Amino acid sequence: VSWPALGRAALEPITVEPGAREVLVEIAASVISSGTERARFVGLPNARVDFPHRPGCSASGRVIGLDPGVQGFRIGDEVALLDVPHQSIAAVPAERAFLVPAGTSLPDAAILQLALIAGLGVHQARLRSEEPLGIIGVGLIGALAQRLARLQGAGPCTTIARTPAKEGIARAGGAVAFLAVEEQGTSAVQHLELPVVIEATGDPEALALAIDAAAPGGRVIMLGSPRGQAPLALLETIRRKRLLLIGSHITRFEGTPGLGPAGLAAMAGRVLKALAAGSLSVADLLEDVDPREAARLYRRLVNDRELVGARFDWTGFLNGDAPIREGERRSCAPAGTAPQAIPPSAVTDRPGEGLSWGGGPAGVRRQIDRPIRFGFVGCGEIAVFNAEAIATAPNTSTVACFDINPELAHDLAQRHGAVAMPSLPALLERDDVDAVVLSLPHHLHAPTALEAAQAGKHVVVEKPVATDLRSAAELVQAVERTGVALSVCFPERYSTGTTRAKEIVERNGLGDIFMVELLWYADKPPSYWFGGFTGRSASTWRMRPETSGGGVLLMNACHGLDLVRHVTGLEVASVSASTANVGKIGDVEDTFAIEVRFGNGALGIMAGTSTVGGLHHESLRFLGTDGWLGLRPVWEMRTSRRVADLGIKVNVPIRLGPPSPPLVTRSRYFSRFASAVRDNRRPDVTGADGLWVQAVITAAYEAAMSGARVSPAGLLEDFTRPPPQTANRSPERPRKGRSGVTVSGTLTMSGRARSPR
Ligand SMILES: NC(=O)c1ccc[n+]([C@@H]2O[C@H](COP(=O)([O-])OP(=O)(O)OC[C@H]3O[C@@H](n4cnc5c(N)ncnc54)[C@H](O)[C@@H]3O)[C@@H](O)[C@H]2O)c1
Repeated sequence: VSWPALGRAALEPITVEPGAREVLVEIAASVISSGTERARFVGLPNARVDFPHRPGCSASGRVIGLDPGVQGFRIGDEVALLDVPHQSIAAVPAERAFLVPAGTSLPDAAILQLALIAGLGVHQARLRSEEPLGIIGVGLIGALAQRLARLQGAGPCTTIARTPAKEGIARAGGAVAFLAVEEQGTSAVQHLELPVVIEATGDPEALALAIDAAAPGGRVIMLGSPRGQAPLALLETIRRKRLLLIGSHITRFEGTPGLGPAGLAAMAGRVLKALAAGSLSVADLLEDVDPREAARLYRRLVNDRELVGARFDWTGFLNGDAPIREGERRSCAPAGTAPQAIPPSAVTDRPGEGLSWGGGPAGVRRQIDRPIRFGFVGCGEIAVFNAEAIATAPNTSTVACFDINPELAHDLAQRHGAVAMPSLPALLERDDVDAVVLSLPHHLHAPTALEAAQAGKHVVVEKPVATDLRSAAELVQAVERTGVALSVCFPERYSTGTTRAKEIVERNGLGDIFMVELLWYADKPPSYWFGGFTGRSASTWRMRPETSGGGVLLMNACHGLDLVRHVTGLEVASVSASTANVGKIGDVEDTFAIEVRFGNGALGIMAGTSTVGGLHHESLRFLGTDGWLGLRPVWEMRTSRRVADLGIKVNVPIRLGPPSPPLVTRSRYFSRFASAVRDNRRPDVTGADGLWVQAVITAAYEAAMSGARVSPAGLLEDFTRPPPQTANRSPERPRKGRSGVTVSGTLTMSGRARSPR
């Protein structure tokens, strides 16, 4: 099992050659170290690994080969192994292999390393006979620690977990009391007064619980590897209660007092014997998984609260079936963002295009005759790509970078010969910054854009404009007053095929558009929610509504919604919608379906999900009374209309291929923005465009919540009118669309689609 990249798992063939003092083992089972592998798979703090990575540690199998120098093993022996990745065959140093006694099942023996981890924690707890004990967490380590403590003669055990999902496991291991804090609250924990508490989750909040549950003078064992920072205030409680906080980690096994040099082998022997005698049972803790389902297993590990532990069963694996090579999947790069080389001629700046917006920005600004110089605010995942696009465009450069994580700011600055700035005000004070690019968590877009605009900087804000429609509307109005240019980053408008499609639709090449189809299906790995596709910046903003404003609809489908409006000129009159959270990693939707009615009576069907394993599919098609045109997955069309000067054959399928490479479109986007700034005119993609997309998405969210049809224009009116009547986000009210056509519930065609511009 290999992890080719963050959040991705695949099988790959291996070749194993035993070295000196090694035994060659055909693996029967390998146990997933749930907490550690989950944390590494999604890239949590303190758990970063390099890729490709080979996960796994604890396994068992049968000896099939021996180095002549190895003593104490014979071919055919059953062994439990330490430090072995998940693989069907392994060469293991003899001192990491332990004979499995008769009576212990080989698959159960695969738990050995996890049991040693838990056993070390129990050893360090220095339990006295019948001493009451608390365990935080019913993961594999928590459950094993509880069972081993009981074997060692501990007194009554209280298990504390987040949810009641695994109460059965805790009770089966001998817990006399069980507390689910999500249901019972945390106050009950403070009255437990336990002399010993083992924290077995690594969650800083769980450490706080352990400290609360401990009696004054008690011992708290930190068996979970910390996956975040605990609040400093905990120290005060530790001092006040005179607690002994004991760190426990398997890497320190050998030096741990009381275990001695042969401690590891002795404890391994005790664990394997307890398994043979039946005094330690692990059958209920482990679910067997076919290694060919590794990708699925790791996804489950992230969001399946009921899964305690899992074990790869390799026994069927060597008998015939060749490994499935899942590595052929898409790479982990976000769809369409892999950097690609562009021929120099591909980046063009065509003055004049987009001028149909009419007048320039409110204020009068000097024309600029040199490249436009950008300052970056937020230097995470997409900022790297934005800066590359700026470097590729002929009329833009990056001069300054700021991120609350100074390492990221330095890194981006160093890549582009820019300076890292210590703060946002410092960046905004620089005279050599003409414009800023905000590549920030969504909740920071609006306030930061306003601050930059008020400092006189032009603003490119990553989509969406804000987390909510009111903030977006207020921002667009406020920036308008400052006279600087505000643009929302929708680079997909600049695909060559998009420009062509817009021209065809505007020239009535498809007749009246009566149907639009927009699909966006993608496979976001679980790690995405903890730091995007690359893990460059660890964070959880994507999974929380307060910081992201929404999931796949706001995060991804917004691009398609903008394209629909840009190409067809159709405004969405009303929507009904449903959303779902299938993957349940974040608290935002990862799946949606919307039914749309446009201002001209056309219908639309839009759907998306970010949680479909191994599939990336996009579709964007416009169906007209005389022809149809698709922009995704490839550019294709057919029309029965002859349009002079368009040079399109009639009644012949035409196929141009996939959209322009993402770096090309993004580079064009920045280039066009820069020339708008230079020429003192509105950018092609304005804040108002972003606002409209946000209104449609907000209407979909409201429709999904209320079950009613909702009109984006109605919402916008609510939000652009001064409070207090803002609560009236009523279901659809017929109103005039921008094109002047009254929206009704029936399909009334009203002439061909016209550009709102
Ligand atoms: N247009 C597109 O195609 C596209 C693609 C991907 C992401 N995005 C958008 O780009 C934005 C950023 O996404 P990302 O994937 O780069 O996220 P990210 O989490 O990788 O990067 C955000 C960065 O902002 C920094 N940050 C947080 N608070 C800050 C503050 N107060 N001041 C300065 N820096 C701060 C973080 O440290 C982090 O490095 C989001 O709006 C996202 O939706 C757009």
